[in-house]
Amino acid sequence: MRDILRADAARMSLVEDTFKATLRSYGYDEIRLPLIERTELFTRGVGESTDAVSKEMYTLFDRDEEPLALRPEGTASCVRAVIANDMLRGDRPRLWYSGPMFRYERPQKGRYREFQQVGAESFGYSGPDVDVELISIGQEVWERLGIASNTELRINSLGNFASRTIYRNALVEYLRPLQEKLDPDSVRRLTSNPLRILDSKDERTQELLQDAPRLMDHLDNESKDYFRELVKSLDNADIPYKIDEQMVRGLDYYTHIVFEWHSEKLGAQSQIGGGGRYDGLVELLGGPPCPASGFAVGVDRIALVHQAMTAEFDARSAHIYVISLDLDCDDYADEISRTIRESTRMKVRRHRGRDKVKNQFKAADRSGATWAIVVGQDELETKSVSCKFLREKRPQIEIPVGRLADFFTRATT
Ligand code: HAM
Repeated sequence: MRDILRADAARMSLVEDTFKATLRSYGYDEIRLPLIERTELFTRGVGESTDAVSKEMYTLFDRDEEPLALRPEGTASCVRAVIANDMLRGDRPRLWYSGPMFRYERPQKGRYREFQQVGAESFGYSGPDVDVELISIGQEVWERLGIASNTELRINSLGNFASRTIYRNALVEYLRPLQEKLDPDSVRRLTSNPLRILDSKDERTQELLQDAPRLMDHLDNESKDYFRELVKSLDNADIPYKIDEQMVRGLDYYTHIVFEWHSEKLGAQSQIGGGGRYDGLVELLGGPPCPASGFAVGVDRIALVHQAMTAEFDARSAHIYVISLDLDCDDYADEISRTIRESTRMKVRRHRGRDKVKNQFKAADRSGATWAIVVGQDELETKSVSCKFLREKRPQIEIPVGRLADFFTRATT
């Protein structure tokens, strides 16, 4: 777990804010979910054999010996919440959430034990139209952030439950005689979660998989029709995608369509978001039968992509730094600061602490500000300010208070 400072924090806020604004513009409602849930929610909801639950979950006991877990993801919590709050009665909610998730993974660039997600979930819609809406939301955010050219959408179909069971058996039958050649993780998964073997990183396992039965060949007509319709809708919406038949996702609840967004700017941890349909989860967790689908994105990773693609990013503490030369001028300096804040979108930092003028200028420089606004007795009397250009060799100018808003609205930082 880590501290996130300055420009990194500002980039993450930008990613979160862009997602939140886009989700709101599509009419999705915010839901705030607890950080801690009963462990059982995830063992049942996400799946006991998944890495997120079996290897990576932070668990604890509270004072009543209740087994609890720091949430590794938001979908199971969101499903629990819509059931517990009776939100499915006569309604089909579309919701979003954001916040930290926790997974005990081996940390590296882009992979952390505490990381931030923004997620969206829709309940009650069975057609691919809502899947395409969710994908469009992601696409729109990549465009707004200026990273779309480096983002790839990958899709696959896991089929409905019946087709997946048939495929799972076929895959196990094919791999069992080859067991000795598989990597240890895949051997373990042969009994616990065979589909996950498909996205093994082991080269030899991948070679063996070349001749394995294909998931697409085992889809029944309903599953095929669903996938075909989804692909057609993506084409109609002009959303580029790649079909990735090996992609199975790490969580157990998916049915039909699964998707991931990847960015090549990230190296090994290239997945910046993922999601899919999970038609059985609401019922599994004690609710009524209810189709559902959603996605979550990794804010930390998207911020890294943004950094790699947009070197120029204004994360300075201040654009304008306001200095008072005299104790008697402090109120006037405060008033000037307020005026500029109210009439422009500039960040205005007022110097605090009774420091010598020289030290006030040092602080102004450190803040990254473009201008220092200086007020003393003369400025107070003439109702003006002196404006010093901190980043250019230009003589200082005097600006009457009445013209401040105009000056700083036109100026570029
Ligand atoms: P997920 O693929 O496990 O899906 O996580 C979503 C995103 O969270 C990933 O694409 C990745 O960007 C980010 N992420 C995951 N683990 C880490 C980590 N250790 N460090 C940094 N970022 C990470 C889910 O969580 C599902 N709940 C998504 C979903 C919603 N499916 C349906 N609805």
